[in-house]
Amino acid sequence: MKGRVEIIIGAQWGDEGKGRVVDSLGSKVDIFARYQGGANAGHTVIVEGKKYVFHLLPSGMLYPCKTCVIGNGVVIDPEQLLKELKELQDQGKDRARLVISAAAHVVMPYHKLLDKAQESLRGKGRQIGTTGRGIGPAYVDKYSRCGIRVGDLLDSDVLREKLEVNLEEKNLYLTKIYGEEPLPFHEMFALAGSWGKALAPYVDDASRIIDDALKEGRGVLFEGAQGTLLDVDHGTYPYVTSSSPVAAGGCVGLGVGPALVDRVIGVVKAYCTRVGEGPFPTEDSGSGGERLREKGAEFGATTGRPRRCGWLDLVALRYAVRVNGISSIALTKLDVLSGIERIPICTVYDIEGETEEHFPCALQRLEKATPYYEHLEGWQKDISSCKEYHDLPVQARKYVEYIEAATGVPVNLIGVGPGRDQTILRNF
Ligand code: GDP
Ligand code: IMO
Ligand code: MG
Repeated sequence: MKGRVEIIIGAQWGDEGKGRVVDSLGSKVDIFARYQGGANAGHTVIVEGKKYVFHLLPSGMLYPCKTCVIGNGVVIDPEQLLKELKELQDQGKDRARLVISAAAHVVMPYHKLLDKAQESLRGKGRQIGTTGRGIGPAYVDKYSRCGIRVGDLLDSDVLREKLEVNLEEKNLYLTKIYGEEPLPFHEMFALAGSWGKALAPYVDDASRIIDDALKEGRGVLFEGAQGTLLDVDHGTYPYVTSSSPVAAGGCVGLGVGPALVDRVIGVVKAYCTRVGEGPFPTEDSGSGGERLREKGAEFGATTGRPRRCGWLDLVALRYAVRVNGISSIALTKLDVLSGIERIPICTVYDIEGETEEHFPCALQRLEKATPYYEHLEGWQKDISSCKEYHDLPVQARKYVEYIEAATGVPVNLIGVGPGRDQTILRNF
């Protein structure tokens, strides 16, 4: 019997609550696997009142006797990873077995310096608003075929040669273009070597480990980072990240064939948020957005930046359903909408006087989109302790069913609070 593969993806601009959905489904999972992105991610999990924020570790690390995989598609900042691991170890909470793909690329200190230097050179109004975690430059090296991979950290001859070539080039960029200090080879080499020693016990062939587990009938959950609209191909380019958060990225980033995927779970926040620059048609810069930020505690889990807030965008959501093949929706933060009299929900855009049902590929067109809103009746009751779907007020259920009708996808999980148990499963 083949095991089950499910992919959790963000259906909006990231921070939809992927971490908490992974955690809420964790008891049914044997292997948790991150497939792209890096320490730009911040996935929050709240268990027994305690908050954990995972940047590189998969969100299943708190489950005893399970396996957590960091796949080849991830770019790993070893300093951040070792820090995260140590924090968990100090609390006795590193309960899962960790596996790191030897083929994952390493984020080096020069990637972080270049990320920040490039942003500051772009200047105000032209910045992407990156997290400064070196993500773009690390993926550039991967695709220009000079990147250092985790496996290289374990072989000092290979590491020396690759680092020499890289530093020669990067130091030219840093000094001649960005006016920064060069990075000394010996320091970098010693640092990378120490990372290799620390990571060695975890390095393995991630694809094979997942394949073996599937042959034994086990359940594997792929955990996406960022979100569909930050995807380098399908997002609001150039205001995107440098990887493929969409579901197909899961197969590439873990070395698993697409025919093995059973379900794609799109995590959808009951409203929308975005961190960083770029178009956001349903953004509410007034008191409505402010209320969502306050009630939803919408501040970045990685950078602490206030998140831009606005209303649910069904045009963008239908697009996310299409490009990911979403077969199930996990709707988070429904509780944040409690107390609003009439809830705006964007059904179509108006672009230069014409009705547009489809999310435009061209940024220039998207920037001209004005949302057309339906208003659904709100509910006053606090829903954060509801356990079953029928415990929800009728207006909340209508909100859920409106989303189902507009997307053609069932909402099988509803978040009514950030805790592991504040989850309503519905025909899951
Ligand atoms: P991720 O990056 O997609 O994992 O999401 P983040 O962790 O960055 O942001 C989601 C935030 O919403 C976190 O602070 C979560 O604790 C919180 N959260 C997730 N689900 C719910 C929910 O259903 N209700 C409420 N009130 N908060 C939630
Ligand atoms: P999780 O996994 C929200 C945004 C940044 C910026 C753009 C590019 O927690 O949902 P990058 O550092 O990746 O080059 O920045 O992408 N961004 C995120 N926004 N959640 C995230 O991750 C994000 N990771 C990157 O704010 O706009
Ligand atoms: Mg996040």
